[in-house]
Amino acid sequence: MADFHSIVILTGAGVSAESGVATFRGPGGLWEGHRVEDVCTPQALARDAELVHRFYDERRAKLAQVEPNAAHLALARLEAQWPGELLLVTQNVDDLHERAGSQRLLHMHGELKSALCAACGVRERWDAPLPPESECPNCGTPALRPDIVFFGEMPYQMERIEAALAQADLFVSIGTSGAVYPAAGFVQTARHRGAATLELNLDPSEGSIWFEESRMGPAGTLVPEWVEEVLSQSTQSSPISR
Ligand code: OAD
Repeated sequence: MADFHSIVILTGAGVSAESGVATFRGPGGLWEGHRVEDVCTPQALARDAELVHRFYDERRAKLAQVEPNAAHLALARLEAQWPGELLLVTQNVDDLHERAGSQRLLHMHGELKSALCAACGVRERWDAPLPPESECPNCGTPALRPDIVFFGEMPYQMERIEAALAQADLFVSIGTSGAVYPAAGFVQTARHRGAATLELNLDPSEGSIWFEESRMGPAGTLVPEWVEEVLSQSTQSSPISR
């Protein structure tokens, strides 16, 4: 049995689904009513800033109506109680992991509650609606945009994520379709470095074949069960069978 010391966890929209935050793909998904090209690309922002800002304003406002679920809470508990290294990387732009108590957390695709200045690059906490041409509090340029990593842009914190993946002996992917790179490739990086790999998802993701072990079901059930296993076995044996 392996003894794990360093875990990297990747989460996607599926971890927030039971909180009432829409996923991107599939029936009822966010992209169903919108073409990605209309709301999540630099070209869309240049073409129709009103639409792009309104799309993210609505999603930011929705955060006030949702709460962390059992999966978010279990991951925060794992961070607080597991003695090893842990990094939680989320593709989600909601704030449910931090509201559940997670601290060792990276938002690789940006955050709804942040605004980015396209002129000076400063990132500002932002809770209110963000009309196009809002002035940057740092440089004064009317160039604030939603702090969301659009398709074609580089995700945040890639160096830190790659370094953590290189150290990890367990990589766990939760609630993501595996459709969007570079996150979809983390499992292969981790495997290449010799880490064990576990997927927790409602149904098999596009990268399912890369995982050593896959458990299918709702995150609100699977994640607390897995966390319980890790915490109860951390002094004895492996949180997944190898
Ligand atoms: P997707 O909508 O592509 O995939 C969500 C995954 O969660 C699917 O595989 C579902 O089966 C699964 N799922 C749904 N409900 C679940 C539940 N209750 N428990 C567990 N799993 C569940 O969302 P992401 O993979 O996160 O980027 O999408 C990746 C990126 O695509 C997003 O970060 C976003 C989007 O473009 C940006 O906006 C920059």
